Amino acid sequence: MNRIQNKSILVTGASAGIGAACAKRLAADGARLVLWARRRDRLDEIKARLAAEFGVTIDVDAVDVRDRAAVGAAVERMSAVPDVIVNNAGLAAGLDNLHEGDPDDWDRMIDTNIKGLLNVSRAILPAMVERNSGHVVNIGSIAGHVVYPKGNVYNATKFAVRALTEGMNIDLLGTKIRVSTVDPGACDTEFSLVRFHGDEKRASTVYDGFTPLGAEDVADVLRILGPIRAELKLHHDPRGHADGERQAENLAEELARPNVDFIVAPPTVPFEDHDQPGQPDRQRREQKMKPDG
Ligand SMILES: NC(=O)c1ccc[n+]([C@@H]2O[C@H](COP(=O)([O-])OP(=O)(O)OC[C@H]3O[C@@H](n4cnc5c(N)ncnc54)[C@H](OP(=O)(O)O)[C@@H]3O)[C@@H](O)[C@H]2O)c1
Repeated sequence: MNRIQNKSILVTGASAGIGAACAKRLAADGARLVLWARRRDRLDEIKARLAAEFGVTIDVDAVDVRDRAAVGAAVERMSAVPDVIVNNAGLAAGLDNLHEGDPDDWDRMIDTNIKGLLNVSRAILPAMVERNSGHVVNIGSIAGHVVYPKGNVYNATKFAVRALTEGMNIDLLGTKIRVSTVDPGACDTEFSLVRFHGDEKRASTVYDGFTPLGAEDVADVLRILGPIRAELKLHHDPRGHADGERQAENLAEELARPNVDFIVAPPTVPFEDHDQPGQPDRQRREQKMKPDG
C-alpha cells in the first residue's frame, strides 16, 4: 500500500492547472479527495472523470478561499478532518511596475494567495492539532525566493507563503503536524491567462524560448511529500526559554521516528543571537538538536 492510499486530502484551487493535476495524481494513488474552487462546473466534471477512472471518493465544494465565512461553512460540511491540506488556490493578476499597478489586482493576489491560505489553514489546523496529526502543503513559488521585474506584489505574496510556512512550522513544533512548501518555477497552466486578464495572445508568448514545467511535474513532487514522508523544518525557539527546551525534547523524539525522512533548513536564528555562551539551556539544546548539522 502506498502512503497516499485512503488518506483524506483537501486540494484548494482544484478546478485547473496544478490543483487539478494534483487531484488526478492523488486519485490515482487512492486518496479520498475534497476539491475546492469557485467554478463548480469544472469541479463536477473533474470529479466524474476521476471517480470513473480511479474509483475513489471525491467531494467537491464551490468555495472562494477569500471568503472566510464560506471557508468556515465548507469545513463544517466536510465529513472528516483531512489528513492533508494542499493550499494551492492562487493567482497572479497583472504584470506592471509597482507605480503603475492596479490596486484591484493587488487585492486579488493578497486576498487569495495570503489571506485565502490563512483562512483555510486557520479553519482546519485546530482539528489537526487536536488530533495531533496532519500535513499542510503550501504551493508557493520560485517567485517567493527571487523577485523578478514587475512581479512586485505577486512576489510579495509568495514570499509571504514561504514566511507563513516557516511560521506554521515553528508554531506547530512539538506536534506531529508537518508544514511544507512546494515552490515551482514557470508552469504551463491557466496562470498566464489569468495574469493577463484573459488576453490569450499575450499569455501564449510567456513560455517562448524555454520549456516550462507541466502541472503534472508539480503534482509528482506532491506525491513524493505525501502525508507521512514529510519535510521537517527544525527551528530554534527564538525566545530561548523553557518552552523551547521542551520543544527540543519533542524534536529529539521526532527525529528518532522512522517516518521523518528529510531534514532541511537549519535553525533560522543562530543560537548566539539569543543565548549567552556557556548557559546550560543552550548547551542542552545544542546537544539535542545536533542531527540538524
Ligand atoms: N503556473 C505557474 O507558473 C506557477 C508557478 C509557481 C507557482 N504557481 C502557483 O500554483 C498555484 C496554482 O496555479 P496554477 O498555475 O495551477 O494556475 P491556474 O491554472 O490558473 O489554477 C488556479 C486555481 O486556483 C483557483 N482559484 C483562484 N482563485 C481562487 C479563489 N479565490 N478561491 C478558490 N480557488 C481559487 C482556480 O479555480 P477557480 O477559478 O475555479 O476558483 C484554479 O483552480 C497558485 O498558487 C500559483 O501561484 C504557479
